[in-house]
Amino acid sequence: MTTLKNKSIIDIEDLSIEEVNSILDLAETYSKQNRQRNVPYNKLQGLGLINVFFENSTRTLMSFELAGKKLGMHTVNMSVSNSSLQKGETLRDTIKTLESMLADVIVIRHSQNGVIKMIDDMVDCCVINAGNGTNSHPTQALLDALSIRNKLGTLKGIKVAICGDIRHSRVARSNIKLIKMLGGDVNIIAPKELIPSGIDNWGVSVFNDMDEGIKNCDVIMMLRLQMERMQETKISDKQAYHKLYGLNHERLENAKKDVLVMHPGPINRGVEISAELADDAERTLINYQVEMGVAVRMACLDLLTTKKQK
Ligand code: NCD
Repeated sequence: MTTLKNKSIIDIEDLSIEEVNSILDLAETYSKQNRQRNVPYNKLQGLGLINVFFENSTRTLMSFELAGKKLGMHTVNMSVSNSSLQKGETLRDTIKTLESMLADVIVIRHSQNGVIKMIDDMVDCCVINAGNGTNSHPTQALLDALSIRNKLGTLKGIKVAICGDIRHSRVARSNIKLIKMLGGDVNIIAPKELIPSGIDNWGVSVFNDMDEGIKNCDVIMMLRLQMERMQETKISDKQAYHKLYGLNHERLENAKKDVLVMHPGPINRGVEISAELADDAERTLINYQVEMGVAVRMACLDLLTTKKQK
């Protein structure tokens, strides 16, 4: 197994293919142990994990907490809204305070691009990016890759359609990098106003027509309209949006018969995906992705702290 050369996980491009495969292989083992409820519960005993989330989260926060606890870490979640940041303490002083408590890993989600890298440069402990602005969400890409690998055997030679609010999506950016690194191709599908500038340099095919874009794809990844990040772009008519860019059983008729339907969550029913399709466990991997999220985060915590383990 390849251990990780960097002390932290900040972005997909910082990882080598060997490191990615190491994370996915170990995560696969943990996913099996999770189902059998027989994880080695004291593997990371004595190590401290602090989750610091400046943006809302259900899946990512809970899965990091559970991942740490399953492996025996002292896991705590800092409540940003009740912290001394509200008394005017700087982010730097807050992070230095957490490091002084001998945190071994700090997991951070932050809305401002670049902040997590800056924090990583400030501390000696491991840092994991749990979603940074519109730029990066490496552990989401890793759990999506694991979900695909488990279902299709490989990402080599596959075609993935990523559809929806690409412009504001860190999930799309990290997934594109990882899918391409593992040998897959990507179709981007979105209305013009949700396609980011500079897309020509991303090495993807761009479609404005959804039926065209999903044709011949092995995977369709749907994305939420991230209203909280929209400044000048406004999509006001959600029904009209669903008609053109929503996924439902009818539209799936135009795709490959066994196409995998994915969504990182949270979903907005009736907007990017119909309620009926979201509830159709035979056709979507939404809950499976959440399950793989715990396993991937366990693998990341384990591989990053190898040197500190007893
Ligand atoms: C995503 C995120 O926060 O970037 N959610 C997640 O981590 N599962 C996607 C989103 O918020 O739409």
